[in-house]
Amino acid sequence: MNLKDLYINFFVSKGHKQIPSAPVVPENDPSVLFNTAGMQPLIPYLMGQKHPYGTRLTDYQKCIRTNDLDNIGDTYHHTFFEMLGNWSLGDYFKEEAIEWSFEFLTKVLNIPVERLAVTVFAGNDLLPFDEEAYNKWLSLGIPKERIARTSEDNFWIAGETGPCGPDSEMFYFRSDDEIPEVFDTEDERWVEIWNDVFMQFEKHADGSVTELPSKNIDTGMGVERTTAILEGKRDNYESSIWSPIISLIEEISGKEYKGNEKSMRIIADHLRTSVFILADPAGIKPSNTDQGYILRRLIRRAIRHAKNLGIDINSDWEQRIATKLLDMYSTYYKELVDNRNVVLEGLNNEKVKFNRTLEKGLREFNKVCDKDIDGVTAFHLFDTYGFPIELTEELAKEAGVKVDVEGYKAKFKEHQELSRTASAGKFKGGLAGNSEIETRYHTATHLLNAALKIAVNKDVHQKGSNITDERMRFDFSCDHKLSDEEKKKAEDLVNEWIEAGLDVTVESMNKEDAIKSGAECMFIEKYPDVVTVYSIGNSKYGVVSKELCGGPHVKNTSELGHFVIKKEEASSAGVRRIKAVLEEK
Ligand code: ALA
Repeated sequence: MNLKDLYINFFVSKGHKQIPSAPVVPENDPSVLFNTAGMQPLIPYLMGQKHPYGTRLTDYQKCIRTNDLDNIGDTYHHTFFEMLGNWSLGDYFKEEAIEWSFEFLTKVLNIPVERLAVTVFAGNDLLPFDEEAYNKWLSLGIPKERIARTSEDNFWIAGETGPCGPDSEMFYFRSDDEIPEVFDTEDERWVEIWNDVFMQFEKHADGSVTELPSKNIDTGMGVERTTAILEGKRDNYESSIWSPIISLIEEISGKEYKGNEKSMRIIADHLRTSVFILADPAGIKPSNTDQGYILRRLIRRAIRHAKNLGIDINSDWEQRIATKLLDMYSTYYKELVDNRNVVLEGLNNEKVKFNRTLEKGLREFNKVCDKDIDGVTAFHLFDTYGFPIELTEELAKEAGVKVDVEGYKAKFKEHQELSRTASAGKFKGGLAGNSEIETRYHTATHLLNAALKIAVNKDVHQKGSNITDERMRFDFSCDHKLSDEEKKKAEDLVNEWIEAGLDVTVESMNKEDAIKSGAECMFIEKYPDVVTVYSIGNSKYGVVSKELCGGPHVKNTSELGHFVIKKEEASSAGVRRIKAVLEEK
């Protein structure tokens, strides 16, 4: 049995319910591009919301971390990885969590106790030393020399705010050397394999920390690393998770892994991540922004390294590798079965697109790389040959020259301003012929979007909108037909806000800041880096609506008239449609 099955079975035997892996693109958390930890999709539940599966959960979660893309090519960094986890939502706490971690490591995985070491929270200004965790490990048979105490490394939080707490990490001695009696966290022969977080606090934006409604457990074990350890491999890519892919790359390229490790690891890693991003229900395609840009960079970098290996990049090499990956993972992830063709086509399309310019771009690069590369040249490589700046940087590094990345960014911004002005012009032109009533409907659309979140539920999001002189049409995500009460409540709220005469204000913001501030938007990847945000509200009501939008809008909601919902119907699966009008008051 493989590690994933062993883990899930073990925690199911301890009363946990297995929950499915959430998509790699978070469904309701625009603050991050991808899920980076198993706990991320569970944040609302760690904060107190009731989980439909109960209080003991376990899963394997797809995670993507692309912040250290440059490290890919070494033995153990991966952009995509699977994280095993078990959670207690106000159910068991430290005692059981530690006990089961120990039992799983020593009884199920049969790791000898002498190869294990742990860390516990040493205490800081706010919290005391975690004596309970320390004593628990001791009682299970971990000698005190193998229990290290640290503060910084033993407090876990995903990002800056949210649920958090002290943790206890477990390490494995991965070396044939004699095992030192005293565990030294700086000694790299000790590799971290699992983390038990005792999540009982919430950190707020102002830095303050408060207690969560309940004491929770959050744990995380990396499948790739632990599998490699169990199989006695120092290089993750030699474990059974990667070896079928590496063998296939050897076959396709006619080269051996030894001596070509870096390119082969990059191809294997980047294609695996691309397969999972393309298969995700979010429907991400390669593009120049957000998740789409990460995907583009991964595919293009894989192509470049395939070329390095002498693979005919116009052949079906990436289809063969992706097919193998799809076959390997389909048992665990249904979306890979459902979206098999989407994945294969997505890869092929991006390959064809990039291959058209790669050759010429590389020739151009070779012409200019005898000296440092200025911003204009780097932008030219991007704009004309589709070289993501990171690819130019990588090529430059290999050629021993530098790239003026700041200069590139300035040029990129200048270009963006120009195209934004052009499209704003188009937008304005299009609207010039529109009547004032359409502007009113536009503002009413924002109010309805906000009202539905209150009247139906907060997960309602805009899926489409169409406005004419006669009416507005609004499509939104919702899994049921609205009841008469829900419709009335939404309608009443919109009219209340109209009566209240709320101000409509507009500001320009960085896209990231806008999203962080909670502004609603439909297709994040479609927006430029600097966006306009429309807010509706006043001092009494606060901000009732905040959305990324090109406008135009009325200045005050009192200009809208009386809002009436005329019809509510199904639009497509999971999407409902409202038709509404504004009448003279
Ligand atoms: N959330 C914890 C981690 O990712 C378990 O390490």
